[in-house]
Amino acid sequence: MHALSKMTMAGAIAACVAVPSWAAGNGPVTFTKDVLPILQENCQTCHREGGKNMSGMIAPMSFMTYQETRPWAKAIAKAVEVKEMPPWHASEATHDIFANETTLTEAEIDTLLTWVKTGAKRGNPADAPEPVEWRSGWIMGEPDVILSFPEPFFVEDGTDDLYKNITVQLTEEQLPQDAWVQGIEFLPGSDVVHHIIAYAAPPGTEAMGDGEDTEGSNEALRGRVMLGGLAPGTDARFLDDGFGIPIKKGGSVTFAMHYHKEAGAGTGQWDNSTLALKITTEKPEREVGITTIAHGAFEIPPYHAEWAVSGAKTFDKDLMLISLMPHTHLRGSATKYTAFYPDGSSELLLHTPEYDFNWQREYFYKEPKMIPAGTRIEFEIVYDNSQENADKIGFDPSRAVKFGGPTTDEMDLGWYTFAMQNPADEVEIEAGD
Ligand code: HEC
Repeated sequence: MHALSKMTMAGAIAACVAVPSWAAGNGPVTFTKDVLPILQENCQTCHREGGKNMSGMIAPMSFMTYQETRPWAKAIAKAVEVKEMPPWHASEATHDIFANETTLTEAEIDTLLTWVKTGAKRGNPADAPEPVEWRSGWIMGEPDVILSFPEPFFVEDGTDDLYKNITVQLTEEQLPQDAWVQGIEFLPGSDVVHHIIAYAAPPGTEAMGDGEDTEGSNEALRGRVMLGGLAPGTDARFLDDGFGIPIKKGGSVTFAMHYHKEAGAGTGQWDNSTLALKITTEKPEREVGITTIAHGAFEIPPYHAEWAVSGAKTFDKDLMLISLMPHTHLRGSATKYTAFYPDGSSELLLHTPEYDFNWQREYFYKEPKMIPAGTRIEFEIVYDNSQENADKIGFDPSRAVKFGGPTTDEMDLGWYTFAMQNPADEVEIEAGD
């Protein structure tokens, strides 16, 4: 046919490579030969003993060996067929753009489904690839600075939602000179941690009041820089060489803690969460900022299934986007970032058509996204306050819902991490407009 006759030699070779090995006459699909390599590459980072702990999102089973995996064969087929696993919530439109994308190819999905359909056979042990030596402990390797609370904090029995800011003074030993943060990784100290945001402040900055940073005010953030955050499903943050978030000798770091649990006798817990940093003392070419696009003044009507809220920012300097992180609470059902360029064109930057509160993902660009001055970026959220969604997720749909800290209120924060294209331009951080 027309399309085929125009196929180039290179195209024909690529097509051959894409055919799964079992279809090319290599015998039946087996665990050792076909399945284990897929699990190693796409699943074991989470599905193993001591796998990724993303604020309590810990994969409940290990897929390191045949014995461990076999009982889950049917569940694996189901999870990969509907693309629930590996977890990735951005739409096809941005396939291959983000560094931390975790998706399977159609050929890989097909291999897993065929393996399960044909009896989930083990195969010849000699076919198995070498086991991956997963490092335990910090994903970043050996941190340069490790910070914990001055003393453990007790989250009382009667607490359900609590915002508590805990400030740590940086000692001479921890930070002998001004530096720039390039890697940041949290370890929640208990399972009542819902999220953590870390802010660095220069010496002499007044301590931040509890929950102040969640009120959408720019005042509380004055003079501070956000280092990063942890919420269920977030990954550790790494910046490329040439980029860094400034942190000052003699300054402080505040852990803005959000604790969340059911209140009740015996539910109290001690927490002491930890923050690990990779730093450089050599000034990078560009400083990095983290801030949001938000609207804030919204009210979602009771029982409304599709209430849209949007905020926008217009940038007057050339910008580089490093990551995007949409943040809503229980009722958020979809999020979208769109760039409207000065030449009149527009581009979808990120769309999460089925936003999942349990997976607060940050989307890290493989290459910084260049945003020319004059671009307006719009951040939209759709909330589902319907009875049906309430039954599924667990909230009260009869309430009108506004912006607020507790998970039973809502947020509409379009976080983004950025640097200026011209290193001489100032990194300005305010909480949206
Ligand atoms: C980023 C971490 C991560 C990766 C990568 C990942 N998983 Fe999971 N997986 C989880 C977590 C966490 C759960 C627990 C379910 C939840 O709370 O959403 C889970 C649950 C599951 C379940 C159980 C679903 C159910 O029916 O309850 C299956 C099956 C599964 N994963 C298979 C896979 C397979 C196969 C891969 C690779 C192709 C994979 N996962 C990759 C984190 C991960």
